[in-house]
Amino acid sequence: MPATLPGSRGIRITGWGRALPEKVVTNADLMRTLDTSDEWIKERSGIAERRIGGSTAELSVISGRIALERAGVDPSQIDALVLSTTTPDRTVPATSATVQNALGLSCGALDINAACSGFVYALTVASGLIAIGARKVLVIGTDTLSRITDWDDRNTAVLFADGSGALVLEATDGPGQLLSWDIDADGSAEELLYCDLGGYIKMEGKEVFRRAVRIMVDSGQKSLDAAGVSPADVALVVPHQANIRIIQAACERLGVPIERAATVLHYTGNTSSASIPLALVDAIEAGRLHDGDLVLLVGFGAGMTAASAVLRWGAP
Ligand code: ACO
Repeated sequence: MPATLPGSRGIRITGWGRALPEKVVTNADLMRTLDTSDEWIKERSGIAERRIGGSTAELSVISGRIALERAGVDPSQIDALVLSTTTPDRTVPATSATVQNALGLSCGALDINAACSGFVYALTVASGLIAIGARKVLVIGTDTLSRITDWDDRNTAVLFADGSGALVLEATDGPGQLLSWDIDADGSAEELLYCDLGGYIKMEGKEVFRRAVRIMVDSGQKSLDAAGVSPADVALVVPHQANIRIIQAACERLGVPIERAATVLHYTGNTSSASIPLALVDAIEAGRLHDGDLVLLVGFGAGMTAASAVLRWGAP
């Protein structure tokens, strides 16, 4: 890898891909085993159905391969793989090692766990690798939360699901498309949302909701300020897909019209690391992004982490 001065190169997004399991679980399906209703789930969360199945490596390989093909990048050209996941397939090795081999990459590979903020953390780390010399980096966000969800617990079972999204980043001279970023964490809030090894997700939903809105707005505003842009300049917000009411409240407080938010949670549920790339890819494929558009990515999650980034979109 060539020696390059830190910070002298930016990123370009040249490929994207996504993967969702085939098995669809509707709210009506959950009503067969849980004391809940389609009306409650839709009204309180915005979720109508979710996709369940596959391993973290399997879903990552699908989204990663699609992103590479779209970028027209041969696997041998990738300098690093950064995989964001809260649900690795094994404790050791990192799931990124399995994915690296299956995709035919010959490069460094690491997992990042920052819960549902993880994809933006991974994007930030990958951009740092590019700044110090990597030329092409594959960034994947994948979670298989169905494996750590207690399907008898209506507080969590109606929310969580599986999926994967991926981006290919390539180096470019100058600042590139990532204009600003922010990462944050508050470990003192650990008990609000956690999963012990071998256990199931436990969550204080109401308190997580309250804090989620606050930290998304704080982080999003920091990135907007760092980029020197105002909420009115943002063409698309890509928020973590946890709850439509959290997205509505955060957009309102940030001052971005809700119509500018990318949402997929009505058919994906909360897929943690995958939720931001799934929503971004959905928006790209729907033709919602045009050259020069400003995009705000903003996530929150267990830890309690928050992360955001401002991108200037450009067709590859
Ligand atoms: N079906 C029917 N009733 C339910 C269900 C359900 N699935 N779940 C809870 N209820 C009941 C409760 O028991 C309560 O009943 P009660 O009033 O008799 O006590 C009532 O509905 C209201 O419950 P609340 O918890 O107050 O409902 P709320 O409006 O807060 O919605 C929810 C709950 C959807 C969990 C919301 O609080 C939320 O989305 N919180 C944030 C969760 C989140 O974002 N988690 C992901 C974090 S990211 C990560 O790292 C994974």
